[in-house]
Amino acid sequence: MNLEPALKYSHTLLRTVITQGDTVVDATVGNGNDTVFLASLVGITGHVLGFDVQQQALDNTATQLTLTGMINRVQLIHNGHENLAQYLAPQQRIAAAIFNLGYLPGSNKRIITHSDTTLKALNTCLSHLRRGGIVALVVYYGHPGGEQEKAAVLEAVKALDQHQYQVLQYSFINQIHQPPFLLAIQKR
Ligand SMILES: C[S@@+](CC[C@H](N)C(=O)[O-])C[C@H]1O[C@@H](n2cnc3c(N)ncnc32)[C@H](O)[C@@H]1O
Repeated sequence: MNLEPALKYSHTLLRTVITQGDTVVDATVGNGNDTVFLASLVGITGHVLGFDVQQQALDNTATQLTLTGMINRVQLIHNGHENLAQYLAPQQRIAAAIFNLGYLPGSNKRIITHSDTTLKALNTCLSHLRRGGIVALVVYYGHPGGEQEKAAVLEAVKALDQHQYQVLQYSFINQIHQPPFLLAIQKR
């Protein structure tokens, strides 16, 4: 068996904590691969909140969800993930969240995630995360602006209190071309 790439491993981890009926967040919907995956895990009683700033990405994802019969369990939101708090009740708990940082391949490469909004969304996710829940960040950083976001996110997650959170970094350290790496934060 080969070690899984970062994105695949994020799904492996999320699969262990998400069960039917859960509420989860896809902070960067893009082409909807993570959204469809999350929708399949939460089942017909669960709920996925999916954010993207690109309407076209949400439209493509809505088509995929309709074709797979899962559109009713997903709320696709044309808004920045930094506004996530507006869509959750104060005491509402989420089981998991996923971020894919960077730009959407095949789309406008200048529309990228940014550290300030990413960190605001991450903090909201952490404040609503249930015990045992996981926030996964797949960090692509080979594009202009990527290194800055990578540094800011790493600094923030390294500073999380170890009594409250376990923080994992999963990366292939001998590969060229800056492959994405995974950060997984689990609430104790
Ligand atoms: C790497 S792509 C996501 C890939 C996606 N998970 C998939 O399966 O195809 C990053 C996405 O984040 C979106 N994005 C950028 N800034 C955002 C923000 N502030 N809030 C929500 N989405 C944002 C981009 O429009 C882009 O679609």
